[in-house]
Amino acid sequence: MKSQEIRKKFINFFAKRGHNHQPAAFLIPENDPTVLFTSAGMQQFKDFYIYPENAPATKVTSVQPCFRTSDIEEVGDTSHLTLVEMLGNFSFSDYFKHDAIKWAYEYIFDILKLPMSRVYVTVFRGDKQTLLDDESIKIWRELGIPDKKIKMGDREDNFWGPTGDQGPCGPTTEIYVDGYEVWNIVFNEYYQDKNGKCAKLAKPGVDTGAGLERLTAVMQKKKSVYETDLFSSVYQKVGQLATKKNL
Ligand code: ALA
Repeated sequence: MKSQEIRKKFINFFAKRGHNHQPAAFLIPENDPTVLFTSAGMQQFKDFYIYPENAPATKVTSVQPCFRTSDIEEVGDTSHLTLVEMLGNFSFSDYFKHDAIKWAYEYIFDILKLPMSRVYVTVFRGDKQTLLDDESIKIWRELGIPDKKIKMGDREDNFWGPTGDQGPCGPTTEIYVDGYEVWNIVFNEYYQDKNGKCAKLAKPGVDTGAGLERLTAVMQKKKSVYETDLFSSVYQKVGQLATKKNL
């Protein structure tokens, strides 16, 4: 499947499920002085987790180019890029764990038709501050993910946010294909203030990020994001311009 189709099918899938399609924000955030660059799909929607009444809709989908300074040391391996296209679906006090997980499952298995043999999921194992996410475990089980494919992750991998020095944050559940994290569902239950203090949000929300480049790599059975159709025209052009071979 071509990258263009993966992107289009994602937006159509969530639009059909009541999501309002919002355009991407600029890479330089317009109203968030806490970050230099837009680093996540939820960046432009950050305030809607506290003030859902200001959101254009309570269910939103978008394709957001993201510049991840936090990944900069890993850029150049098979799965990290300076600019990532993040496919996102968001809930501002609307749906929560059940629908977010069910829809991720349906997109991965029914739309992309990836086989279960290549997939596993991770769930937050809990720690002193936040409980084990047993609700997500139950939902994955009910959808038919076998127990051996539901792995526990700690805070470092399965708790996300905030972006910048304040904002919504919460435990995550993630989907891995061929060992690559392709889908991250953040359950924004908390708001972290400038002093690092976390308070429970009045109503929780959902923030999903699925990396288009990685989804394309696994769909096209490539070992690296650079081998996908997203980059083939660049390689072709470089090949034409190159004057030396086999360096
Ligand atoms: N905001 C989450 C991420 O960027 C989904 O990974």
